[in-house]
Amino acid sequence: MNDEVAPYLPEVEKGLHLIPTQATEHAGQLDHLYFALVGASAIILLMVVGLIAFFGFRYRAGNKAADRSNLPSTRTENRVEIAVLAAMLVAFMGFFAWATTLYLDSYRGPEPAMTIDVIGKQWMWKIQHPDGTREINAIHVPVDEVIRLRVTSQDVIHSFFVPAFRLKRDVVPGTEKTAWFKATEPGEYRLFCTEYCGSFHSRMLGKVVVMERGDYQAWLTRQGSGQTLASAGKQLFQAHGCSGCHMGKSNVRAPSLDGLYGRSVALDSGEVILADEAYIRDSILQPDKHIAAGYEPIMPSFAGQLSEEDILRIVTYIKSLQPGEWVKESVKENEGESR
Ligand code: CUA
Repeated sequence: MNDEVAPYLPEVEKGLHLIPTQATEHAGQLDHLYFALVGASAIILLMVVGLIAFFGFRYRAGNKAADRSNLPSTRTENRVEIAVLAAMLVAFMGFFAWATTLYLDSYRGPEPAMTIDVIGKQWMWKIQHPDGTREINAIHVPVDEVIRLRVTSQDVIHSFFVPAFRLKRDVVPGTEKTAWFKATEPGEYRLFCTEYCGSFHSRMLGKVVVMERGDYQAWLTRQGSGQTLASAGKQLFQAHGCSGCHMGKSNVRAPSLDGLYGRSVALDSGEVILADEAYIRDSILQPDKHIAAGYEPIMPSFAGQLSEEDILRIVTYIKSLQPGEWVKESVKENEGESR
């Protein structure tokens, strides 16, 4: 491999593996389900093929020893068939319930210790940590912590895949998906793009570096990012003029955003919607999609004006606003003026 075309390949997981390394609890649980399904399918396959072979041989033309007095067309008993079908139905409904539980678990997950942004771009993974630290094609995380990922794309459809975590998410521009994992073993694990996304799709590789707590803290300190996502978001919020309408003393009436996250919002259409991350993102990029009840649809769209990183920063800032926070800030300002 010459350097020009050599992809960025972490030196990890060498050797022959029948299945990828299991670096999360979820990976082990998913493998149990997988092997149980393969096992059940194998039993049924052997049963069907075995009976075909057995009957084919026993009732072959000219076998005088075979008893042909009780042919299917003359039988009225079907207890065996019903029993076998019922047993299979129960078994596979059991698999369905088992798989559904794991599937839902892979989306909901426990309360996360931190949220890390993952942005797909032709042809790299851009990572943004809550304290503002950024990296490319590598995600450093502490071991035994629940890490939540916010995954989005800046251009085309990519797919985020870490086999050792059994974790995969389609990365679709204009949407924001979440995923979570809790790595149980320190080490480096490969990260792939598993959606054909252009000429250098095959080079869109990275690694997840799982570190011991102490090592992770040391790594974070070495990065020295300076500005958290929320404070970077606040600057953008002001620079793009959002604060002019949404904050304090403006003449334009726009809904106040403090305490917005997680609240139910009444819409002009009469619907009520939960203000989650997707709602905040939509409101920035497609303000006409959900008009808050009692307000005019006058906000311009910011689509194309903000990079994916900036959108995530602003969303993080708006999420961080506690109820009444802006009132407190404007009181502080007024006190400053009166002095
Ligand atoms: Cu990105 Cu393939």
